[in-house]
Parts: sequence; structure tokens; C-alpha cells
Amino acid sequence: MITAVNQGKAGTAMMGFASILNKEEIEAVVDFVRKEFMMDKKINTKYHTVENGWENHERYASAFPFALNEVPLDRPWDKLTAQQQQGKRLFMAGCVTCHDRARVESEGAVWESRPLSYPRNNYSHKTLPEVDAKSGATPYSVHEIAPVLLSLTEQEKQGEQLFQQNCAFCHSEDGTGKNWIGSFLEPHPRDLTGKSMKSITAQRLSQVIRDGLPGTTMSAWKSVLNESQIQAIVKYVMKAFIQNEEFKNEQPSAANH
Ligand code: HEC
Ligand code: HEC
Repeated sequence: MITAVNQGKAGTAMMGFASILNKEEIEAVVDFVRKEFMMDKKINTKYHTVENGWENHERYASAFPFALNEVPLDRPWDKLTAQQQQGKRLFMAGCVTCHDRARVESEGAVWESRPLSYPRNNYSHKTLPEVDAKSGATPYSVHEIAPVLLSLTEQEKQGEQLFQQNCAFCHSEDGTGKNWIGSFLEPHPRDLTGKSMKSITAQRLSQVIRDGLPGTTMSAWKSVLNESQIQAIVKYVMKAFIQNEEFKNEQPSAANH
């Protein structure tokens, strides 16, 4: 078990903790798991505690039987007591997102899966000379391709790497924010290639990276990235995605136009 926690399990979500926990900490957590769950066979440690941000969780007691699988979720409404009905409503509204493996009396029909294909993204074999297998499979993956930029300065190259490592997760590799994660965030990550970005200055760009946008998932990077890294990202974002007047005026070749 210590080896597994140290090195993780290849090919699974179990990561290695060797660089995060020290030897004593790994031994302590393995001892805990062995005693608590394997020897004493405790069902679980409590999750909904004040420390975890769940103040007075007892007030949801009417929904507990559904979270604990004591009452099946598909029991007909008229077979539930008034309190259970209230609990089921609460469970469906506030708990099922995490407690999604509720017990049911009848699993229902088992449907055989079969491959299904249908046109995506206005695909038509009449208008497209080649089959676009990528956007046909998922509408998101086409946005996970970073622009190919020639003649980047050292600073822009560093910015490219930092952007693709830290920002592309939400803004997608092509800067549009139309990747899988971006499509689900509310508000959506800004389309850095879009019209609304054309008026942004390098100064405003640095500031928003530094301080983030409160009330959105755009977080403040000032304690993660240092000032020269932020400047490198600004240069890259300007070159790769925004390409506005301020940027063009800064380019040596623009002087000739
Ligand atoms: C953010 C995810 C999340 C939400 C939302 C959530 N739970 Fe849980 N709950 C958990 C986890 C994680 C556990 C512990 C794992 C386990 O026991 O399987 C847990 C465990 C429990 C337990 C067992 C005792 C305990 O505290 O560990 C009860 C009872 C419970 N939840 C009830 C509820 C009810 C009722 C709601 C809705 C009002 C709710 N939960 C909403 C994640 C959640
Ligand atoms: C966790 C998701 C997430 C990550 C990671 C992220 N952003 Fe954002 N970003 C957002 C969201 C969401 C918005 C849009 C908020 C809005 O439109 O109100 C945004 C907005 C922006 C804007 C527009 C700001 C403005 O005022 O017009 C810029 C520029 C930007 N992000 C750059 C970056 C850069 C550079 C990084 C990496 C250092 C980054 N973002 C990382 C989610 C993210």
C-alpha cells in the first residue's frame, strides 16, 4: 500500500504522492486506512462536517435515507411517508449530484448499446471534400489545437508554454474557450480571439491575469506566476490571439505600412 501511495497506479487516476507527502505522512495515512477501513471495518469517515464546510447538516435529515440507500429512490410517491416525500424532493434537488448511485428497486430495462452516428457541426458529405473525423467525433477537440506560430521570440515561446500549461485548460489551446471544460463554465471563459478582446491593452491584460475576475473562474495568478512569466503570457496572448492595433504598432515590421 505504501508503494501504491508513493508511486501511484499506472493507467489509473491514482496518482503518486511521493512529491507531496513525506515518508511519515504516507505511513500515517496508510496506517489509518488499514485500521479504520480494513480492520475495524468502519463504513466511512464522516464527510459532512463543519470542517468540510457543511454547517448543521442534520437539518437535511429527511434526505439521509436516500443518501444512505435505506429507501430506494424509485419507490412510488404514494408509498412514501410525508417526511420521506419531503426528503426525496430535497435529495433530488440538492444531493443527487454527488450521491448519484442511489439504490433503486427496479433497474429498468437493460438497453443494448449500439454505435450511433449523426451529422455534427453542420457536416455534410456534399459540401465537405474530406471527412472531418475530428469534429465529427467531438465538437470540442478541434479547439485543442494550438496555433502554429513561426518566429516567436524567446519571451513569446516561454509565454506559449505557460499559456498552454495554465490557461488552455479553460480557454482551450486555440484561445476560443470552446473546448469541453470551457463550454461548461458559467460564465464561459472569454474567447481571446473574439471581437470583445480587440480593445484590450497589454496593461489591462497583465492586470486581469494578475488579479483575476472576481465572481468568475478566472482566478488571480499573481501568487502562481511571477511578473516576468505574466509578461511572457501577455506577449504570447497578444501575438497568438488578440492581434489588435496596440500589438501591431509594437511590431518592428508594422513601421513600414
Ligand atoms: C459535494 C458532494 C456532496 C453533496 C452535494 C452531498 N453529499 Fe453527502 N456525501 C458526500 C461524500 C463524499 C460523502 C462520504 C462518502 C460516502 O459516504 O460514500 C457523503 C456522505 C453522506 C452521508 C453519510 C454520512 C457522512 O457525513 O459521511 C449522508 C447521510 C449524506 N452524505 C447525506 C447528504 C445529503 C442529505 C445531501 C443533500 C442535502 C448530501 N449528502 C449532499 C458528498 C456530497
Ligand atoms: C479555470 C478557468 C480559467 C483559467 C485556468 C484561466 N481563465 Fe481566463 N477567464 C476565465 C473566465 C471564465 C473568463 C471570463 C469571465 C467573464 O467573461 O466574465 C476569463 C477571462 C479572461 C480574460 C478576459 C479579461 C477581460 O477583462 O476582458 C483574459 C485576458 C484571460 N481570461 C486570460 C487568461 C490567462 C492568460 C490565463 C492563464 C494565466 C487564464 N485566463 C486562465 C477562466 C479561466
